[in-house]
Amino acid sequence: VKAPKPEGRPRKVSLWQFAKLFRRDILSALPDHLFKAKMAEFRTPFFQSFLVNDPALIDLVLKDRPMDFPKSGRVAEGLRPLLGDSVFLTNGETWLRQRRIIDPAFEGGRLRDTFDAMLAAGLAACARLQPGAQDIEPETSHAAADVIFRTLFSIPITADIATRTFEAFRAYQRAQPILNPAALIPLPKWMPRLFRRGVRSHAQIIRALITELVQARAVEIAEGRSPDDLATKIMTTKDPVTGQTFTPAEMVDQVAIFFLAGHETSASALAWALYLLATHPEVQAQVATEGTAFLKNPGFSNLSSLKFTRDVFRETLRLYPSVPMMVRETTKPESLRARTAKTGAQIVISPWHVQRHAEMWDNPDAFDPQRFSTENGKQCLRDAFLPFSSGPRVCIGAGFAMIEGPLLLALMVAKFTFAPDGPPPVPAAFLTLRSRDGIRLKIAHRLS
Ligand code: HEM
Repeated sequence: VKAPKPEGRPRKVSLWQFAKLFRRDILSALPDHLFKAKMAEFRTPFFQSFLVNDPALIDLVLKDRPMDFPKSGRVAEGLRPLLGDSVFLTNGETWLRQRRIIDPAFEGGRLRDTFDAMLAAGLAACARLQPGAQDIEPETSHAAADVIFRTLFSIPITADIATRTFEAFRAYQRAQPILNPAALIPLPKWMPRLFRRGVRSHAQIIRALITELVQARAVEIAEGRSPDDLATKIMTTKDPVTGQTFTPAEMVDQVAIFFLAGHETSASALAWALYLLATHPEVQAQVATEGTAFLKNPGFSNLSSLKFTRDVFRETLRLYPSVPMMVRETTKPESLRARTAKTGAQIVISPWHVQRHAEMWDNPDAFDPQRFSTENGKQCLRDAFLPFSSGPRVCIGAGFAMIEGPLLLALMVAKFTFAPDGPPPVPAAFLTLRSRDGIRLKIAHRLS
């Protein structure tokens, strides 16, 4: 069974048709030949943009000279009302300082401390799940948001302020249908803003709730009674260079990105993973076996036993990268595969294309968790797999997500069976890679 992807558009369309397609969704607006190309240039009347699939060019932008290719201002603008100056959007010195303070909270050793909270969230998700036919995305969103609240602030999603924050995020996402496309939309910069009615007011509500959480925590820290969780760790870590901690206002920006980057992405990946397992019952049975064995002794040190489930989650992130595209911009003229990119050109790096690239992956559209043991799979893992980006701006939560994803998947599949319900979902790039009409599954209790 092929893992679904939307029909690509014909190679030539008018600018107007292109803009209309983009409004709907970026993935179906792009032509199929990008799954074979090393690079493509989009010339618009307003700016230049390049999609780069060539591993050497991706390394140049993300690893070799990342400071010369900062985050795109076109994309940042849409997120600024919610994220302020969070580490996801900043560049240069500010960004470096923020990473120095945040990184230690997500180091391997600290991840062990988050395990119990993740497990509790996973078990709560299983307890909520009801047999029957349903869209699984709201369930995985709920579960992933629960993980974030429990690990960051030591509160479950059922706590009043957590529920209200989660609801506000949902409203924000409905008002913010497009994000990544901003860098590719062949229109002047102000135009995409017209598509985002209501985003600002939702962002303000979320930020007010987060401010409440951060202020309460600042008081607990000052009084020496704060729980030992990620928020406390980040708020008490001093920048080794300046000796300063984050101010509460700076922390609000960071918490906003942890919620957004931390729950939307994992929710998307989990929902796609369950869909892929629903359409591959023999793979699902293997995950169930691992999950059932793990549940007999569910500890951090036992996570390595979820090896196959981890490969399933990895293969899901290959086919359905939660962040399908990342955008940078040039700060000076650059020569890219013998073409010249002017200053301010948009550089799009697309895990969506690279990870299904026909010249690199064997059988690119097939769901095959075993591929990572093949020569081609191992090679591509190095050259053509970047669901968490790479280089210094790599996802802060990559290690966290690679524990959370397989863990929640194993728990859910140990307890329930999943089968497809209705037509295959059509991937579409919203804030993350979601399905245009939800992901419908038939769920039943697994009989052991
Ligand atoms: C399956 C889950 C996840 C995926 C696929 C994912 C993917 C990514 C990607 C691709 C980027 C780079 C974006 C860019 O450069 O434009 C990123 C950055 C980031 N992610 Fe994740 N992420 C996941 C989970 C998480 C979690 C759980 C957290 C935190 C709790 C997190 C926090 C961040 C932050 C703070 C950044 C910004 C890093 C920087 O710019 O320096 N992510 N993520």
